[in-house]
Amino acid sequence: MIIDEDFTLLNGKKIPALGFGTWQIKEEDAEQACLTALKAGYRHIDTAQAYNNEEGVGRAIKKSGLKREDIYLTSKVKAEIKTYEKAKASIEESLKKLDTPYIDLMLIHAPRPWVEMPLRLKRYFKENLEVWKAMEEAYQAGKLKAIGVSNFQVDDLENIIDHSSTVPMVNQVRFFISQVPEDVLKFCLDKKIVVEGYSPIATGRLLKSKAIGKMAEKYSVSIPQLCIRYVYQRGALPLPKAVHEEHIIANTKIDFTISQEDMTALNNLKKQIIGAW
Ligand SMILES: NC(=O)c1ccc[n+]([C@@H]2O[C@H](COP(=O)([O-])OP(=O)(O)OC[C@H]3O[C@@H](n4cnc5c(N)ncnc54)[C@H](OP(=O)(O)O)[C@@H]3O)[C@@H](O)[C@H]2O)c1
Repeated sequence: MIIDEDFTLLNGKKIPALGFGTWQIKEEDAEQACLTALKAGYRHIDTAQAYNNEEGVGRAIKKSGLKREDIYLTSKVKAEIKTYEKAKASIEESLKKLDTPYIDLMLIHAPRPWVEMPLRLKRYFKENLEVWKAMEEAYQAGKLKAIGVSNFQVDDLENIIDHSSTVPMVNQVRFFISQVPEDVLKFCLDKKIVVEGYSPIATGRLLKSKAIGKMAEKYSVSIPQLCIRYVYQRGALPLPKAVHEEHIIANTKIDFTISQEDMTALNNLKKQIIGAW
């Protein structure tokens, strides 16, 4: 069962192999969604400053009855924060909102502010190193147990690797059937950077894919289950999101194996979603 398995980070720490995504879960619903996920067996929750739900996530951890050290908690420094001082202050604010003495994994949410993500005009190499410095310091102080990035391309990663003393331990990237960032995946796996696959169901849009539906039927699983298992079999850590209890539970039941032949067919599937950057 992948829900019981771990990936190992470059610093030797373990990270549970299935994470619970919380993007677009409102602050007032986050507590209940996370409590349902923890009850269903998830031990890894993915939030972000930009999701505006850190307080709800923190309350769920407190109310779950589980020990803090038994839950793996990720947050992210806002993509728009690109100075050392602002990054440092935002980490303190996350610790406060999550009501925790430490965060297991903190990521730079994106290499550029969101409005600039589709364009690659300004690359923010210098600014990302400033944010990274604030994260390295919080890591050294034990406030963050691991640090990494999200939405980074190979050259964004090389910038950090070449100009700092800490290799990012994780790169969290958009990752779903027919739209896998192959170059980033290969680079990260070669460097032992854990790749987390976000939006494994393409934020629900893959639910309509006839080709994936046909393959899911063959394994007697749902489209989301096939999508999540696919991410895992590609060597990445899947991060599905759901608010409905039946979805939250179903997404933990991915203890089946997609054959090599079918993995190849899924790898070669033509793009299912139009317009994704
Ligand atoms: N780093 C980044 O920039 C970034 C960006 C995007 C996402 N993420 C992370 O990745 C997580 C997941 O990505 P995502 O939120 O885009 O969505 P996703 O996991 O690809 O898809 C979620 C959608 O699929 C539905 N769903 C989930 N399981 C289902 C099931 N078993 N049956 C039917 N429908 C199901 C959900 O429905 P209900 O909610 O109605 O149950 C929701 O509408 C995020 O929450 C976030 O933590 C990170």
